[in-house]
Amino acid sequence: LSIDQLIRQNSQGGLTFNDFLVLPGYINFIPNEVSLDTKITRNIKLKAPFMSSPMDTVTEDQMAIYMALLGGIGIIHHNCTPEAQAEMVRRVKRYENGFITDPVVFGVNNTIGEVLKIKKDRGFSGIPVTDNGKLNGKLLGIVSSRDVQFRKDPSTPVSEVMTRENLVTAPKGIDLEGANEILKKSKKGKLPVIDGEGRLVALLSLTDLMKNQDFPNASKSPESKQLMVGAAIGTREDDKVRCTLLVEAGCDVIVIDSSQGNSKFQIDMIKWIKATHPKVDVIAGNVVTREQTANLIAAGADGLRIGMGSGSACITQEVMACGRPLATAIAQVAEFANKFGVPTIADGGIQNVGHMVKSLALGAHAVMMGSLLAGTTESPGESYVRDGQRYKSYRGMGSIAAMEGTGVNENASTGRYFSENDAVRVAQGVSGLVVEKGSLTRFLPYLHTGLLHAFQDIGVKSIPELHKSVVSGETRFEIRSSAAIREGDIQGFATYEKRLY
Ligand code: XMP
Repeated sequence: LSIDQLIRQNSQGGLTFNDFLVLPGYINFIPNEVSLDTKITRNIKLKAPFMSSPMDTVTEDQMAIYMALLGGIGIIHHNCTPEAQAEMVRRVKRYENGFITDPVVFGVNNTIGEVLKIKKDRGFSGIPVTDNGKLNGKLLGIVSSRDVQFRKDPSTPVSEVMTRENLVTAPKGIDLEGANEILKKSKKGKLPVIDGEGRLVALLSLTDLMKNQDFPNASKSPESKQLMVGAAIGTREDDKVRCTLLVEAGCDVIVIDSSQGNSKFQIDMIKWIKATHPKVDVIAGNVVTREQTANLIAAGADGLRIGMGSGSACITQEVMACGRPLATAIAQVAEFANKFGVPTIADGGIQNVGHMVKSLALGAHAVMMGSLLAGTTESPGESYVRDGQRYKSYRGMGSIAAMEGTGVNENASTGRYFSENDAVRVAQGVSGLVVEKGSLTRFLPYLHTGLLHAFQDIGVKSIPELHKSVVSGETRFEIRSSAAIREGDIQGFATYEKRLY
């Protein structure tokens, strides 16, 4: 079937990913020849079509840093004060591979007991001591576990034991190679980086240097060469102040976060951002119909998020009756948006590489992931052990826990669902646990490689080529019966080990 026959002439209603397959094409290249270069807005290009959701169990600064290092982009959630969100954006922008730009810093009155606690809880010592106990304070010394090992009294202040003399430091602006040289010669574990006035600006650690990876796909702003980052806002009047703080912090793209984007509030917000901050791109949404899309594009949206109620933690379709199966939503919205050069992002319900391939084949330019990333080391929050398995929290931003501000984050999230004035809360999401899956530095390359192979099977070498091939009818689709879906799954085993990566 062509995309028209599959989606637009299909009289059976909306389709989702499991309803169909892509038919294979002709292979005359190896997977490494495939490029996943894409655009997520009119102006923002990435080397991989991966975005992380603005949710408080998914994207804070750590997630955004690693998403950008690995070729995608993270969208920092707004269930926090505007200042806290802007600070997270700044941390991503400050990040330099190999340098710790947000180190633990002590003041002279911190104690030996605290050094030992950090060593025990977080596995490192070698803590810089500054006059105000913070980054950007004047560097006075450095305290390591060696300085405290023979001291019995844990209340002894670090000022009595820290190394003050012959501190080896590096000047601000030094590159990794130069810093590496100094660190090797000094035979120390940590190298503080200081500015002209002796203020601490970063720290370099020998152990980090040794496991330092190269990130050839990193998403960097073309001018500043800093990592790219996005941040979400709502559509209330005070979100304008938030937006300005985020833009001042260096945010590359603003995402207007709403489950139903076709509103006067959002249209006014897009127009305001475009008039006030013309250099920053705006991703609007969410949308699932052409009519919604038309309004947001007319208002000036540079990119669009597609999806309503299809997310893994979402119950919007059940509770509100509104929504649309994601595959149909993508095909309808992307066809329309592509005519105006506005890239689209499939959001909610992406559970595996196959869903990503289908999203891209239906016309999307990127995918946004919530639950798939909530179990990684880089998501916010600690992991829990239950029955020998490690878990992390994941919750919809319309869950009661998120709206009331209980659990992992004590701020109340109400803007996404226009629920700030409700006397009674109506949940549009659930809250729970997902299995911990280790670092994004392993998981994203797994997704990336999976996509390269899928593109090879389809016989296309890039996302634009895939889009063209679908529109021309060369790449075709086929509906799956429920028996066919069962055939595509694992069959006939008594037991098996399901290892995905
Ligand atoms: P996945 O399936 O990747 O979905 O976990 C992430 C996306 O889900 C949306 N989202 C919600 N939708 N109720 C909803 O109906 C909620 O409480 C909720 N929280 C997040 C959002 O689009 C996100 O990117």
